[in-house]
Amino acid sequence: MDDLSRYSVIERSRAGCAVEIRALRPDDRDRLLTAVDHTSARSLYLRFFGPRRHFTDKEITFFLNVDFTSHVALVAVTEQDGEPVIAGGARYLVTQPGQAEVAFTVIDPFQGQGIGGLLTRHLISIARGKGLTELIAHVLPDNAPMLKLFERCGLPLRKKRDAEAIHVTLQLT
Ligand SMILES: CC(C)(COP(=O)(O)OP(=O)(O)OC[C@H]1O[C@@H](n2cnc3c(N)ncnc32)[C@H](O)[C@@H]1OP(=O)(O)O)[C@@H](O)C(=O)NCCC(=O)NCCS
Repeated sequence: MDDLSRYSVIERSRAGCAVEIRALRPDDRDRLLTAVDHTSARSLYLRFFGPRRHFTDKEITFFLNVDFTSHVALVAVTEQDGEPVIAGGARYLVTQPGQAEVAFTVIDPFQGQGIGGLLTRHLISIARGKGLTELIAHVLPDNAPMLKLFERCGLPLRKKRDAEAIHVTLQLT
């Protein structure tokens, strides 16, 4: 895909609900902040490796300012009471040539519906299309759902554990 900022694919959750996997847009600011409000302390802890609830303007700007080259971000959008809501998001940041670090969050009420799997599949396909060779992730050792997602994503995987985290490397080529 040439213009990733227009990326949009309609998928289905495990329950059969329509889920749009699309590029994060600058006008998603309010939807993104609402999504954070609906994310549990535990999920934010697993994502940010520490207690987080509030983000500075600088951090929010960073999350929204994606260039779709070195920083790619997708959101999973579904409908709630007739309104589009962000149910989850995934992003990668290129850390060195050929390699990017990935991170995922699915908002608690939407977890376990296959949305994490959809985001993983689309992010992997974009990374491949961009010619990346490896995706890396840092995962807390007790984060079974994330480790399971990586193990099931169909890519060769290496894991290295230290005192803090499990460092996962997914081989794209
Ligand atoms: C990790 C995360 C993104 C997964 O998203 P999700 O939409 O719930 O994922 P899916 O529904 O696609 O699948 C998750 C898998 O984990 C499994 N799972 C859920 N809870 C589990 C648990 N406690 N132990 C083992 N497996 C578990 C699910 O059953 C599912 O496996 P299945 O396909 O065999 O049913 C989501 O849980 C999340 O946002 N967690 C908090 C933030 C985080 O951990 N981010 C990762 C930082 S790198």
